[in-house]
Amino acid sequence: MSIINRIAEFHEQMTEWRHDIHAHPEIAFEEQRTSDIVARELGQFGIEVHRGLAKTGVVGVLKNGDGPSIGLRADMDALPIHEANDFDHRSKHDGKMHACGHDGHTSMLLGAAKYLAETRQFKGTINFIFQPAEEGEGGARVMIEEGLFDKFPCQSVYGVHNMPGKDTGTFHMRTGALMAAYDTFEITVTGRGSHAAMPHHSIDPVVVASKIVGGLQSITSRNLDPLESAVISVTQIHGGDTNNVIPNRVWMEGTTRSFKPEVRDWLAPSMQRVVDGIAQAYGASAEFDYLRRYPSTINHSTETGIAAKIAAEVAGEARVDINTAPVMGAEDFSFMLEKVPGCYLFIGNGAGEGACMVHNPSYDFNDEILPVGATYFSRLVETVLAA
Ligand code: NI
Repeated sequence: MSIINRIAEFHEQMTEWRHDIHAHPEIAFEEQRTSDIVARELGQFGIEVHRGLAKTGVVGVLKNGDGPSIGLRADMDALPIHEANDFDHRSKHDGKMHACGHDGHTSMLLGAAKYLAETRQFKGTINFIFQPAEEGEGGARVMIEEGLFDKFPCQSVYGVHNMPGKDTGTFHMRTGALMAAYDTFEITVTGRGSHAAMPHHSIDPVVVASKIVGGLQSITSRNLDPLESAVISVTQIHGGDTNNVIPNRVWMEGTTRSFKPEVRDWLAPSMQRVVDGIAQAYGASAEFDYLRRYPSTINHSTETGIAAKIAAEVAGEARVDINTAPVMGAEDFSFMLEKVPGCYLFIGNGAGEGACMVHNPSYDFNDEILPVGATYFSRLVETVLAA
């Protein structure tokens, strides 16, 4: 591991920021205290601070002569989870928790900002992007809509996420789709209620809804090329109140995941066809609403090549997987990658016993990887913006 010496010297300070943010988690668009810390620290490093994009977003601009511009991004939000840990830095906000390690992402980018502001071994402009609301609310999309890349133009953009289950400080990336597109849907089936003992007076929406659940699965198993991938999951079904009444209506909700934009575009009309066709076959009616949430996180090849080279310098070639398997989780950094070429990658948060997955109430970010991420961001800048 080749950690920059100066960054190793403030490992303790990065850990203090991380524990402080962990103890005071704030969920989507409420990251007031966290963004105050970020703005205060960036200001102290001598970095120009811009606030207010997407409510709590912070952008730090560090310019050193003329040259290219780069965006480095960290997410700041926590999750509505009740923390099960009992260490000193556990959440002080009941029902909120940094269970995805965004406290660590924020601290490692602050560490890189401190080092880069001190040393300035680059020519060009760095935009340190601290975004709110990664979890489900698309804070990155909101920052872009409010002019992120118009006000702070970036020629390339980079982000990282910790990954439990992978060895501490290892790097994992791939060109193309790394994470899936994430959409949600709702279906309301309307039939005709009746006495459950006299079903011939009804159009039973419970039966129709169950046919629809089965029918939707045939889209991914029978209509999609087996070498492509997509998931359709119905996750909620609500209907009826008692055992002897056939209800009028059944409501369902679920999510889809996919990688290729053309597969994603194909899912909604395919689902609509199955929902309408099945409802009609049984004499019921159905309403289908499909909401596009996050696009697939698609890495660009040139920037992924650069990221792989820097990762190998930091962690050693044997600890970098440049062709990691994509994951069905989603990430709103995808919106940034739609606008600006770049690379998103995973840094191993630790494997083996006790390696707890993100979004679990016992999860914690591994402070050992703070200087790894900060060194990666810093070397990236010193390479892409070489003086
Ligand atoms: Ni996350």
